[in-house]
Amino acid sequence: MEKITVSAPGKLMLLGEHAVVYDRPCIVTAVGQRMFVTLESLPDPLLELEAADVKVTGYKRSFAELGVGEIPRGAKFVELAVKNFIEKHPLKNGVRITTRSEFSSLFGFGSSSASTVCVIKGLAELTGTKLSNKELFGLAYKTVLDVQGKGSGFDVAAAIYGGTLYFVTGGKVIEPIALDELPLVVGYTGVKADTVTLINAVAEKAARHPELIDGIYTQIGNTVDAAHAALKTKSWPLAGELMNFDQGMLEDLGVSTGKLSAMIHAARDAGAWGAKLSGAGGGDCMIALSSPGTKEAVSEAITKVGGQVIDVATNVEGVRIEP
Ligand code: MEV
Repeated sequence: MEKITVSAPGKLMLLGEHAVVYDRPCIVTAVGQRMFVTLESLPDPLLELEAADVKVTGYKRSFAELGVGEIPRGAKFVELAVKNFIEKHPLKNGVRITTRSEFSSLFGFGSSSASTVCVIKGLAELTGTKLSNKELFGLAYKTVLDVQGKGSGFDVAAAIYGGTLYFVTGGKVIEPIALDELPLVVGYTGVKADTVTLINAVAEKAARHPELIDGIYTQIGNTVDAAHAALKTKSWPLAGELMNFDQGMLEDLGVSTGKLSAMIHAARDAGAWGAKLSGAGGGDCMIALSSPGTKEAVSEAITKVGGQVIDVATNVEGVRIEP
């Protein structure tokens, strides 16, 4: 095959942030805005990259130089994904890669992990290499760790498997949760957050209060397990209440902000079953679990306090080859 386009969804964490970095579970759903990556064979062993969304154009590297020296921020995940793939599955030809995102990289929907998954899946398809989802996860998660050093891999799992997943650190457990709906309102704070900075801030707090923070991680894990059971039986008010518990513990970890809290409380006051931040905190998005009857009021309340409501489908299909 000479040319192929692969797409993968973004993600929203429903519960379990931060604790999932430390061997606890989380719940994540794949969102209907996707990353698209087109891969074309080149005659020489070269990576060419066009990623206009992240301001990378006309980028070229020989395969021998991959991962060496300074790499522009917007090229890191793709370059190391190619490097990790060809270390396992040597390539004779080069590849031109073009990425396009349906969502802003500002939202925290996981554009980097989605593009990493697309690149590795695309290289496998382009070269006729058989790659199970487990192997795809392994290579993509390694790439994420190579670039940012930290992370649970939940975003990689959401990009690959899609749907809504119960996930434990590093893919120890990846279990689909059968849901035919997930009534969420998503609000963007307008503030871009940096995941690694927030993970580090929590780690510093944990160094000062090891037992307290470990106890919080355990309680977050218990809350995730209870929410897992509630979601399976569509017990939305209970799931919402558990999201509120989780938000309280994320406040304790110090990752919520005034803006997130204002949006979360506005959503609850407008009748949401539950509301919390989604992702690392510090900005990005909040989510509110809301009945069809309160959805409009919840959206208006979030907008009133300065949030931007993002209309996004959830529980969508994972990585796929585009026709
Ligand atoms: C970031 O979206 C969620 C964190 O739990 C990090 C991770 O799981 O990789 C903070």
